[in-house]
Amino acid sequence: MTREKKGPFIAGNWKMNLGLGEAAALARAVVEAVPEVGDCAIVLIPPFTAIGAVAGAIDGSAVALGAQDLHWEKKGAYTGEISGPMLVDAGCAYVLVGHSERRQLFGETDETVARKTRAALEAGLSPIVCVGEVLEERDAGRTLARVDDQLAKGLGGLSKEDMERVIVAYEPVWAIGTGRTATPGQAEEVHAHIRDRIRAAYGNEAADCAIILYGGSVKPANSHPLFKEKDIDGFLVGGASLDAGGFVDIAREALRAHREEK
Ligand code: 13P
Repeated sequence: MTREKKGPFIAGNWKMNLGLGEAAALARAVVEAVPEVGDCAIVLIPPFTAIGAVAGAIDGSAVALGAQDLHWEKKGAYTGEISGPMLVDAGCAYVLVGHSERRQLFGETDETVARKTRAALEAGLSPIVCVGEVLEERDAGRTLARVDDQLAKGLGGLSKEDMERVIVAYEPVWAIGTGRTATPGQAEEVHAHIRDRIRAAYGNEAADCAIILYGGSVKPANSHPLFKEKDIDGFLVGGASLDAGGFVDIAREALRAHREEK
């Protein structure tokens, strides 16, 4: 292991799930388990409606709060949208940008990802920028080219200081919600490539400190082998994050791998 690793970064993307009571209960259960996985950075990403309930439940704990999307304008006549400053006001420190479900189902493009990433940074949020190929791109051998394109268009032109606050999440679309996880080798190939790209653009320090998450059917059973890979710094967990026990087990298994020699 050549670089200094921070503890595993484990984020739970709850997607469009949970009412207020359920969200607060899940957040409280995660908070209770935090002492066991204290070296992990834990982020909960509820739907907008539950942000306030989760903020209350995690208050005073080491658990952080994120949102699933933001609009690039600060305020104005944009019915249905939520801005970066509003998320900060609600207690968020992180925001997902360009999740594949937003790209595939809601017309998000690399250009909107770029605007939202900048807006998040300007508001003082850390954007978790999602990239990843669809199955046809993988089968055609175009995975790295697709990810390069998403990185170049979504993050191109950011300063080194801004880049230090960006988290990249590699989520192969074919692995999301399918139960079909990328193998550790498949994920590591892309993660190492992303880190190389950051190194080429921003230098060694930025690359070594960059947090690159894997997402796509992460569960307790595959957390350890995935985290053993050199360039996997944590996980963006979907379905398995809706169960406190499973989510904490993912963190625990990543921590076990972190404490072993990478
Ligand atoms: P699953 O863990 O349910 O595959 O979802 C991954 C994801 O999209 C996280 O953002």
